[in-house]
Amino acid sequence: MQKLGYFPVEIVPAILAEDEESFFSLTKTAAEFAHRLQFDFMDGVFVPSKSVQVSTLKNLAKKFDLSKIELEAHLMVLNPEKYADELVESGVRTVIFHVEAVESPKKTSLFFKSKGLDVGIALNPETPNEAVEKIINVFDFIMFMTVKPGFYGSPLEIDAIRKMKDFALNHPDVLIAVDGGVKMDNLELFIDAGARRICVGSAIMKAENPKLAYNQFLEKVNEKVR
Ligand code: DX5
Ligand code: ZN
Repeated sequence: MQKLGYFPVEIVPAILAEDEESFFSLTKTAAEFAHRLQFDFMDGVFVPSKSVQVSTLKNLAKKFDLSKIELEAHLMVLNPEKYADELVESGVRTVIFHVEAVESPKKTSLFFKSKGLDVGIALNPETPNEAVEKIINVFDFIMFMTVKPGFYGSPLEIDAIRKMKDFALNHPDVLIAVDGGVKMDNLELFIDAGARRICVGSAIMKAENPKLAYNQFLEKVNEKVR
């Protein structure tokens, strides 16, 4: 992985599916090339859309060997704590929950950490950085949503990139992930704004050839850090 500053730049394919069949087939595809993989879960309450259940991950782990891939779960749900055990049992190492979805983000983070998970805190586009700035040290990283959460292919929210850039300038020691609207032709914008763990949904997983698209993203990263 190529480095810029403290952290390497990583491309993280995102799996978002409404039914088991597409969940399995997208994962099978991504497992051929991904080093880190994000599973998106939506409950139809925190966001309007619904995905497969978190429990589906257990069947997935039985079907495919994902042991060499760093698995993360992005929970776009209320009460994310209730999924902790299922995630751990399915081999997930990292959980990302939303600051807007819980009463005490600090308590929720410490709870997930007590289960052995790494924790990322996600911010919706309209949520100000102040929502997490004072408690940032209880998380392993921050993830800026640059689309409204819940769907593949939503329009990019440019203001969220500005917010991320401000945060990066104030917190150069914090790992920044970004999720939503990343394409080949705007990748540089996200890297320049400080993102190092870059989640890509439709631009990889809905491409005609996902493996080729992933490799093209990596090439672009290499050009950038060379
Ligand atoms: C959005 C999800 C993302 C999604 C990104 O709500 O959290 O992970 O997969 O999809 P694109 O890259 O198509 O915006
Ligand atoms: Zn996501």
